[in-house]
Amino acid sequence: MDTDRVKKVCIIGASGKLGQYMVGHALERGYEVVGVCRERSVPKLAAFDGRMTVVPGDTNDPEVIRRAVAGCDGVLTVLVPWGVRQYASGTAQAVLDHARPGARLVFSCGWHITRDGKDKYSRLFTLGVRIATVLAKLVRAVELDDQVEACRRVFASDTRWTVVRGSSLEEGESQGLPVWSRHVGDPVLAGNLTRRVDFALFMVEALTDDTLVQEAPAIVGCRTPSALAHAEGSRS
Ligand SMILES: NC(=O)c1ccc[n+]([C@@H]2O[C@H](COP(=O)([O-])OP(=O)(O)OC[C@H]3O[C@@H](n4cnc5c(N)ncnc54)[C@H](OP(=O)(O)O)[C@@H]3O)[C@@H](O)[C@H]2O)c1
Repeated sequence: MDTDRVKKVCIIGASGKLGQYMVGHALERGYEVVGVCRERSVPKLAAFDGRMTVVPGDTNDPEVIRRAVAGCDGVLTVLVPWGVRQYASGTAQAVLDHARPGARLVFSCGWHITRDGKDKYSRLFTLGVRIATVLAKLVRAVELDDQVEACRRVFASDTRWTVVRGSSLEEGESQGLPVWSRHVGDPVLAGNLTRRVDFALFMVEALTDDTLVQEAPAIVGCRTPSALAHAEGSRS
């Protein structure tokens, strides 16, 4: 899809940190922006008053999503595993069901999601995910398994999807478009750090990058030592 064909985008989970950065990038590109967030979080979008439309509601509510994505050429979805009510898979399903055919659908998640089982995780990373999954279940606050289910549904769909898998995140000024690779464990990703503002940039750029259709890029900051070494290696 070329840039000219993206005019209107919906950002689902717009009030979060990643969501707000995506709103900013999308407005900078001149897109018409519709955002979905929980009713109580609408004030977090005050900085964008008059420049975007907000549809308040739970992101896993099919009726909310149906209204929000109407007429959108692209849908950017922050997949979050909050609660124990299948929030992430409900959100993904509502987007898959209601986005217009042919729309670009871009979803966010973390490196722990694997598309083909070929990712190679360090022992520390695997242990961290296991502990987080168990603890989260114990306190009934987060359902990591449901984010896995959400992505499984996206991978199985025949829509024009991209699942962007984020490394560890940090705040800070933009450093530029992150680099990506198909599998965690590839040397270029060793730096395991991305600025959140650049994660958002990658999501918004993916709307017009057809090479990312039906891909699950694992991303890392372009200024991390591993990304710089990879760029140097490619040059020489
Ligand atoms: N955090 C990390 O280190 C990390 C690492 C890799 C990838 N990621 C991925 O990056 C994306 C953004 O994650 P983030 O950690 O940076 O968070 P974030 O951008 O601040 O987004 C959090 C989202 O969760 C919503 N939320 C919070 N509590 C909720 C609840 N109880 N019920 C329903 N929704 C709730 C927030 O909505 P409200 O504004 O309404 O509260 C917001 O939309 C996610 O897809 C995540 O998997 C994160």
